[in-house]
Order: sequence, then structure tokens, then C-alpha cells
Amino acid sequence: MATFTRIQEGESPSITIHPSYKIAEIDNNIYGGFTEHMGRCIYGGIYDPGNPLSDENGFRKDVIEAFKELNVPVVRYPGGNFVATYNWLDGVGPKESRPSRPELAWIGVETNEFGTDEFMKWCEAVGTEPYLCLNMGTGTLADALGWLEYCNSDRNTYYANMRRKNGREKPYNVKYWALGNECWGPWQVEQLTKEDYAKKAYQWAKALKLLDPTITLILCGETGYSSWDHYVLKECVRWDVHGLGDENNTKSLIDMHSIHVYTADKEHLANATAPRSAERAIQMASALIDLARIENKVPASIPKQKICFDEWNVWDPIRAPGEQGAEEKYTLSDALAVAVWLNAFIRQAKDMGMANIAQSVNVISPLMTSKDGLVKQTIWWPLLLFSKYMRGHTIALNVAAPEYTGRTQPAWIRAAIETPYLDCSATLGADGFVNLAVANLNEEQDYEVALDGLKADKVEVFVVSGDNVGVTNTAGEQKVGIKESAWDGKGKYTFGRHSLTLLRWKGA
Ligand code: AHR
Repeated sequence: MATFTRIQEGESPSITIHPSYKIAEIDNNIYGGFTEHMGRCIYGGIYDPGNPLSDENGFRKDVIEAFKELNVPVVRYPGGNFVATYNWLDGVGPKESRPSRPELAWIGVETNEFGTDEFMKWCEAVGTEPYLCLNMGTGTLADALGWLEYCNSDRNTYYANMRRKNGREKPYNVKYWALGNECWGPWQVEQLTKEDYAKKAYQWAKALKLLDPTITLILCGETGYSSWDHYVLKECVRWDVHGLGDENNTKSLIDMHSIHVYTADKEHLANATAPRSAERAIQMASALIDLARIENKVPASIPKQKICFDEWNVWDPIRAPGEQGAEEKYTLSDALAVAVWLNAFIRQAKDMGMANIAQSVNVISPLMTSKDGLVKQTIWWPLLLFSKYMRGHTIALNVAAPEYTGRTQPAWIRAAIETPYLDCSATLGADGFVNLAVANLNEEQDYEVALDGLKADKVEVFVVSGDNVGVTNTAGEQKVGIKESAWDGKGKYTFGRHSLTLLRWKGA
């Protein structure tokens, strides 16, 4: 949470930090990832058998190390649009008997060489939690129940025994399950109307929770501000459901609401401020959840359903088409946009249950593999800084800064939410450190800023920047990275043009 006071260019900017005013606890799951059977994300990304950089399971060791470095707490799988024709049974059991199938989301062939057990093993190697998305396209409720039983049941039943036969005795206890992916999208195999989806999601949720009442179920929303979101929330944010394995009806049918937004623009400032639309989307989705709870008379004892922003990033699908593997080349401008995205998650922590950058390897990703190594794209660096330091609690801030007043993408941002040149958030970590993230989006102007509330004589400084907003990182040259230094906390701090700065000091 941050409040913003617009000042004119030439006036003195300030950031007032209130370390003792905790706003909300930050869920670590906002640093989640996403791996889809798409382009080179799985095959050639996390899984590359035969490559000297891979382990005995075919998992790329350098990719595992990168996930560990980012401390990714949860990874969504297997799609995305891919999931709408995915049969999980094709991807378990002996590899030589797994069928190859036509893949209709990205128009390819799925060999099923990598499936559920491989993904679970990979999650264990990374030290992350799996989050599975169910096929609500060609898949049936029976398929979904079978997959849940395969992953989570410790009983003497068919699919639990199939898992044992495939070499895994203990259940995987997968906690997070999504009720389909973008079921509203015209590109989707078996696209649904909101009425049909809500009816189906309600019935599926009931049955899935009967089989395993401990799971966290995620409803398929759209952007967070559409009539789809409004309708499906109204129908599915319910607690008075018979058959949730709970005689007293004190359980919620669904636990989180998924939304997706991708931002991009050719011009730097429209690009870097575009994630403000996602922040407004969070606020609107949160209001729709409140509305559904009011209309459905959900008691306050049932925790409010949080938002699962399970696809977010900078992506222009015309520049990097999905069917061609969506290998975006990210610029410094995109890295600043990602900083604004992450600031938004911190500011809106109260409503955020999870967020998953789309995607984690090769496909619209901070991390690119080649046969002989990794490239960390520009957007890797803000992600790393935030994941390392911006945890704990969001704290209150007031930012007085000039505002960008030009064209926005989308246009509705201008009337809905401000676009300050200094986009900020702050946290108080469990280690007692205050962390202040400041993205100076202005490509021409440094800002000398008074930091009210900073009482320390030792401040750690981390800066992500580059020569200009168009620079990219390649295998040959890393033009954007993190520069570390120290500051004595005296006087004003100058935030350089087109940069992300993270200041960190032991709180008072
Ligand atoms: O992340 C790429 C694609 O974008 C996903 O498969 C889909 O859910 C979204 O449209």
C-alpha cells in the first residue's frame, strides 16, 4: 500500500516510510513460477536428457540452480492453454509405452516423455511446491478425480496403486489445483460460456473436495475486471454447499480466484506503466470477491478468497507468437515494467494469495537456455532482488513525485490509477530490515529524493539499470545486472534515470 501525491517537475520529491505501520503480510507464493508444455519450456528448458548440463533424470542442473537462486516457492504446471487437451494418463508409467499426441494449443506434438512423476521429482529437486491445472476442455470430472487420487491418495485404490506401481509409494500431497485455464478464451479447446463454466466448476469443486478436503482450489477468472469474473465469483464463492466433507458447512467451495494479464507497449513509458492496469485489476477482483461474499451471505469466519495471479508478465504476442515458442527478448524497459508489476503485488499484498510469472524458462521468460548454458534476461534482475528481499510485511509509504501524463496501455489506466515516475513499495522483513524498492521510470531525469523515516547510517544499495531503456542481455553480453554499493543514509538519495533501486537498512 502506498499513497501518492503528485508534484510538478522542479518541486522536491519525497518518500515517507513508516516501518512500524505494517499493512499486510506478504505471501511468499507471489514469487511463484509457471512451466507449460509450450515451446522450449519443458523440452529443452527444464528437461534436456543427453545434455552434459543435465542430471541422470534429464533435468537441467543449471536451471534447477537458477530456480533455487530465485527461491521459487510454487510452480504451476502443465499449462496454460496446453492443458485443455491434456490427458495426464498419457504422461505416467513406462516412457516407452507413452503415446505421442497432437497438441492443439500450440499446434505441435506432445511425446509425453515428461509427465506428472517427472514434474513432481523436478519440484523436489528444486525444493518447490507443485500447482496443477486441471483439463476443463476435453477432460472429464472423472479424469480430474483420477489425477487427484493419483497424486494425493494414500488409500488402497486404483489410481493411488497406479502411482505406487510407477515407483512412488507416498502421496505427493499436491495442495494447489486450478479449475481449468482461461476457459473463457476463444482460442481455447472447448471454450465455455460463463454460465456453463460456473455450473461445471461448482460441481467439479464439490467432488474434488470430497475426495481431498485439504486442497486449495482455484477458480478460473479472466482479467479480474470482466463480467466473467463477476459471474463465476457470484456462482462459486459459496460455503453453503452440501458435500464438502463437512457436516456443518463451514468450508469454502473455492479458495482463490485466478486472473491473467500480460502488458506491453512499443514506447517505454506506456510499457513501464502498463502494469498499473494489473494493480487496478487486483483491486477490482477483490471488490468482486467482496460483492459475491455479500450477496451469498458468506460468514466472516470463512477467510476471504485471495487472488491467484497465475499468469503475469510483459508479453506482446505479435512480437513473440505463442506458436513460435514466444521467446521474448526483454529490454531494460521491460525490466522496469516487471519492477512495477512486483511493486503492485507488494502494495496489494492483502489480496494476493499467489502470483506466477509466465513463464519460468525460455517461453516469455527471465531465463533462456541454450545447449551450453543460460542467459539471464533483463527481467531476471528485478525478480531476483524482489524475491530475495521483498518478503515479510508490506509497510506504509507516501510518495510525492511528478507523474507521467502521456499515453497509457491500456488507455483506461489514465482515469483509473495514477502513473508516478517513481513507482515504489516497501517491506519490513522478518530479519528486521526495511526494504524500499524505487523504480524511476523517467528515462531522462534523475530524482533527488528526501527519504523521511529512514534512520540508519548504513544502507545497502542495489541498482538495476543500463545505458538506455532499449538494452538487452545476450549470451555474449550482460548489459543489465545488479550493481551493489553502500550509502551512509545522509541527505537525499538520487534515484538515477531508468533504474530500479532497492535500499535496505536495519529498521528502527
Ligand atoms: O503463457 C502463455 C499462454 O498465455 C498460456 O498458455 C495461456 O494460458 C495464456 O493465454
